[in-house]
Amino acid sequence: IKKIGILTSGGDAPGMNAAIAAVVREAKIKGIETYAVYDGYKGLVENNMEKIDPEFAISIMNCGGTAIGSARLPEFKEEKVRQVAVDNLKKEGIEALVVIGGDGSYMGAQRLTEMGINCIGLPGTIDNDIVSSDYTIGFDTALNTVVESIDKIRDTMQSHNRAAVVEIMGNGCGDLPLYAAAATGADIFSIPESKLTKEEILSQVKKLHDEGKRSVIVLVSEKMYDFTSEQLAKDIEAASGYVTRATVLGHVQRGGTPSAMDRVLATACGVFAVEQLVAGKGGLFVGLENGKLVARDIEATLNMPRKDKSQEIKVVRDINEIF
Ligand code: F6P
Repeated sequence: IKKIGILTSGGDAPGMNAAIAAVVREAKIKGIETYAVYDGYKGLVENNMEKIDPEFAISIMNCGGTAIGSARLPEFKEEKVRQVAVDNLKKEGIEALVVIGGDGSYMGAQRLTEMGINCIGLPGTIDNDIVSSDYTIGFDTALNTVVESIDKIRDTMQSHNRAAVVEIMGNGCGDLPLYAAAATGADIFSIPESKLTKEEILSQVKKLHDEGKRSVIVLVSEKMYDFTSEQLAKDIEAASGYVTRATVLGHVQRGGTPSAMDRVLATACGVFAVEQLVAGKGGLFVGLENGKLVARDIEATLNMPRKDKSQEIKVVRDINEIF
């Protein structure tokens, strides 16, 4: 194997550049050239690929986002679109591919492997929703951003005797708000794995108000309710007596310098991915399971049941009940 490609797909995540750096460096050690495929699968189809200079790769490992761009390409589900990608790769002499992204990116990697291009998937998403990896690249940085934001919001809520609703991303996975609730002592959280009704939120906030608590923080996962966080804040204000404000953290969670832990995870996964490709393997997803690097079949990964978070949820709910 002489040339491999690398692409980042789906929502960007801090640490993707560290994964790119690890792949490029490990490949160089093994005498392999690495090609950047720009803007995810789109770059494969549009033949937008270029050799990456290892020195450049090292220089970006501390940068947020992804230096090679990311995009979502639903058309990649079509075989004729994938065939264009395979033809372009073959023209460049690129025999294998590393795909860094969320679970929406792995099916494309599996299909390309079936068409003769060995692919290895890496868990790159802030959501932490890849079941076969303890953590995903980007989660730790995003969690720190969320925690820092909640700490700041609490400062002002506490000063003004107010309540705050903080809406947090996660695309159906409640890990960011759950871990953030543990790290900040946020009073109430509602996540897909443990969803509260609006009435439950209102009565819990009112109870805290009646007990004399000076400020209240309510964390809610995005995309969960048919009302906005702004509306929820208005309803909390009317029901509880707290002046209430809503903050939607949004894409601030996706940016910023990757944490050391994200860089370490990205580096370990990147090196392991190159080792898999050199061993002639493909159709695998690389992740950390119980602290150990593992490579699993992509299809098996996609079919694994969601992690059971009930114990963590109970612990955080219990400790945050005492104020
Ligand atoms: O998967 C990462 C993520 O940030 C999710 O948390 C969120 O739901 C989604 O991407 C947002 O996507 P976009 O940037 O396309 O709005």
